[in-house]
Amino acid sequence: MAVAAFTWRHNRLAVLDQRLLPRQIKYTLCRTHQDVAEVIRNMSVRGAPAIGCVAAYGMALAARNSQPLKRAADLLKAARPTAVNLAWAVDRMLKVPPSKFLEEARRITREDLAVNKAMARHGARLFRKNSVVLTHCNTGALATAGVGTALGVIGEAFKQGKVKKVFVDETRPYLQGARLTAWELVQMRIPHELITDNMAAHFMNTEKVSAVIVGCDRVAANGDTANKIGTYGLAVLAKYHGVPFYVAMPTSTLDLKIKSGKDIPIEERSSDEVVNWRGIQIAPKQTKARHPAFDVTPARLITAIVTEHGVVKPQDLKKWIIRKP
Ligand code: MRU
Repeated sequence: MAVAAFTWRHNRLAVLDQRLLPRQIKYTLCRTHQDVAEVIRNMSVRGAPAIGCVAAYGMALAARNSQPLKRAADLLKAARPTAVNLAWAVDRMLKVPPSKFLEEARRITREDLAVNKAMARHGARLFRKNSVVLTHCNTGALATAGVGTALGVIGEAFKQGKVKKVFVDETRPYLQGARLTAWELVQMRIPHELITDNMAAHFMNTEKVSAVIVGCDRVAANGDTANKIGTYGLAVLAKYHGVPFYVAMPTSTLDLKIKSGKDIPIEERSSDEVVNWRGIQIAPKQTKARHPAFDVTPARLITAIVTEHGVVKPQDLKKWIIRKP
């Protein structure tokens, strides 16, 4: 992948402004942890693993700038509430001495790359030749430090000659599918078709969809999974149509402190992001929209979870992960 979501250069963090894709490639330079919190909040950088890595570099900037570290940690963690990778990465930074923060941020980033590759290997085994795969939101290199989670699995299965086509959900209202996943699939030269979110049922009913695979932002101990709004609906549709529904989950996204999905905090974003699109008003000014950015898919609708350690049934997640190193 030629375009990285973020890079550390000359003691600054350069963050790709994903809001401008696919039309423009532009990086924002973050000099302070406040800058980093802002690019997470405004969704220049997004995707659970990527915001974890970027927040780790935010802590490295705070240490460099001799800022109070607890305050910096709280600010970064509050930038977005659902993806647990953010708090996971910041808390991990606080366990090492500040002089080692940059090294630790680099380690978190390197590990994410390795985890992506391992997930891709394990997940690709789930696919048979000529699979038509449906995915939601963006889970590719742009959302991680590596090849991606669900999109990494799709990429590896494609290399193995198993993927015929990918249906890409547009993913309203932020259009991560249309703007980011389709863009990445073009570069990966993987055949794909963009569909609006409300077309998924139609295609499951009228054409072959072999599997759905998505990423996740926080998985509870019982396997309930928070991911981009619209994921739960897809899982219900997949169940009805007998289509396997897979979740790609780095263990940094597992939150064993949370017992079930009902305790996962769901980010509510602004009504404006639904009522307007890039400055164009698409509903009456007086209309207020709802905008939960994520929903929770119950474990019983998930066929299997792909982790860096292998593939596991959601019900077995807790005991299985605890046994792993
Ligand atoms: O709001 P976003 O774009 O940060 O949401 C991203 C998702 O929901 C992804 O599916 C999830 O973070 C997994 S990314 C590898």
